[in-house]
Amino acid sequence: MLSQNLYSVRDMDKYYVTTPIYYVNDQPHIGHSYTTILADVLANYHRLLGTPTYFLTGTDEHGQKVQQAADKNGITAQEQCDQTVVRFQELWKRLEITNDDFIRTTEDRHKKIVQEVLQELFDKDEIYRAEYEGWYCVGCERFFIEKDLVDGNCPECGRKVDAIVESNYFFRMSKYQQWLIDYIETHPEFIQPDFRANETLGFLKNNELQDLCISRPKSRLAWGIELPFDSDFVTYVWFDALLNYITAIGYKTDDEMFNKWWPVNHHLIGKDILTTHTVYWPTMLKAMGVEMPKTIFAHGWWLTGRTKMSKSLGNVVNPMEMIDRYGVDAFRYFLIAEMTLGQDASFTEEAFVKRYNSDLANDLGNLASRVLGMIEKYCDGKIPQWTDSADVDRAKRDLWIPKISGTVGLVQELLPQMKLDGAIACVRGSISAANKFVADKAPWAMAKAGNQEGVDTTLYVAVECLRVCAALLYPVMPERMGKLRSALGMDNVVPQFDRLSEFGVLKPGTPIRPLEDPLFPRVELTKKEEKPVTEKTEKPTEVEGVITYDDVMNVKLRTAKILAAEKVEGADKLLKLQVEVGEEKRQLIAGIAQHYSAEEVIGKIIVIVANLKPAKIRGVESQGMLLCASVGDQLKLITVDGELPSSGAVVK
Ligand code: MSP
Repeated sequence: MLSQNLYSVRDMDKYYVTTPIYYVNDQPHIGHSYTTILADVLANYHRLLGTPTYFLTGTDEHGQKVQQAADKNGITAQEQCDQTVVRFQELWKRLEITNDDFIRTTEDRHKKIVQEVLQELFDKDEIYRAEYEGWYCVGCERFFIEKDLVDGNCPECGRKVDAIVESNYFFRMSKYQQWLIDYIETHPEFIQPDFRANETLGFLKNNELQDLCISRPKSRLAWGIELPFDSDFVTYVWFDALLNYITAIGYKTDDEMFNKWWPVNHHLIGKDILTTHTVYWPTMLKAMGVEMPKTIFAHGWWLTGRTKMSKSLGNVVNPMEMIDRYGVDAFRYFLIAEMTLGQDASFTEEAFVKRYNSDLANDLGNLASRVLGMIEKYCDGKIPQWTDSADVDRAKRDLWIPKISGTVGLVQELLPQMKLDGAIACVRGSISAANKFVADKAPWAMAKAGNQEGVDTTLYVAVECLRVCAALLYPVMPERMGKLRSALGMDNVVPQFDRLSEFGVLKPGTPIRPLEDPLFPRVELTKKEEKPVTEKTEKPTEVEGVITYDDVMNVKLRTAKILAAEKVEGADKLLKLQVEVGEEKRQLIAGIAQHYSAEEVIGKIIVIVANLKPAKIRGVESQGMLLCASVGDQLKLITVDGELPSSGAVVK
């Protein structure tokens, strides 16, 4: 549950919203796009409400992950950053993102302040040097102690961790444990949704908080911000990255700007980075003597159907492809309408097309083309002159007040509760009500009967409904709604909320600008996603026992490296294998124990079916199937001829 009325949008003096800064080890995907679009929609709503707004995003360019990607690509870390950052920047441009600033952690303006903060904390004895012995997960860029590990692997992502013994610098995070518990308990708006606050509290109450290792010896990793008090070390990437939220708004360089925007209203994050934002960041700020963020909001994951998106499964949604097929605004709309903030949501192209056709092509698109078409036809292409009559009173009572101006109020209430999907559902209700109003009134019949006054008044009410709906959806679909507002004859395509719920804003006599193309043309599923219906119609031409190219492509074969193996107790044919598929770790149960010992399979690169539904074999979960060749009682593992840079390669 979200707390009700976290704040009132009407009383805000400013709104500062941030996204996580994204790693530049790979190209952006739907997850990155989602957080950025969400921030954009929130920023747009606050701007329309007249609240001074600042929206920050950027890239996280240091650390082992980026260095490893650079090594893999045979380029320097800086080149890796420079090449990848443009992919993010181009995508944000394409997605109509209106960020006020884009921070890169390799910029001097950031590095300089990170060093100042480090020096200050070192001088205050908040940072000290000691021997470190523990584990490191490169995927999460996080340190763990032995007892944090789950089956010897990273407790966050399940991947393998590296043992580390070295001299390092530590931030005295542990001393803030009780303070942080108290702070979270007395500030219900601090971590949202509140079940995430409970998650952090559970962690803090059941574990002894450790000091945070904030350095890396250059001998192991040189790609980072040098510690100002010891040039043999660079800064731990999370300590550097979190500071972007304040270095970008003038911390220690521009007090006026900093005081204007800080504390941040919303740090938007995915649930995967809750601990770093709700434990590391607040304790860092506390040590620095800086005010706490108002709200850290963690959203859920986008899944493909019900499966986690992962590169090795080949099911990661590429935003560029979706935009090319269906348009930017429809993509933004789907993401915001489909995800209940805080929960996971599922992305399938089928669901996308269904929602697009029903909400956008049918409901909104239909209302727009009908109303504009009739104004063209029956009102000389001008906003009609309405007559203050009993009909208008009735329309105000039955339609305008409950369904249009009421929705303006509802949206403003749902916004601070982060119920954006609910807000969109309300606007959909308004659109349906307006469509129904037009259908019930049947202005075409009035025209036929020569009732021009009735036609004018009905179409005026309808076009006013359209004005309000377009404004309410503008933050989500700025391009399409801007176009619609322009079609309604409005010069200012950017709406303001202050006069939104008043009836009678559009000026009679203003020429409309008819839409040349439908706002949202109906779409069909692309072939890849088509249902078996079409496959059935193709069946007669198929040869029995022969499968199609698409059938083959549906089976995702990947290379995997066997990291560990052991016999399954009580089953003499089965080996339990821990394998690495690219960045992911999986467990497979394989019936090969009579042909291979556990020791001899370790290190082998095998081929697996990566998109097989997980199943329990003898009560043990198996996440995939490995491929073998077998004749009689002989069996051999299918392996790869020669070295590939890593596991997870696509087998074609
Ligand atoms: N660099 C850190 C963040 C530092 S912030 C000071 C990082 N970067 S990341 O590139 O891995 O991006 C993480 C963010 O991307 C997540 O927190 C989330 O916002 C978004 N997502 C990545 N995959 C996602 C999904 N499948 N679904 C939804 N969002 C997810 O972590």
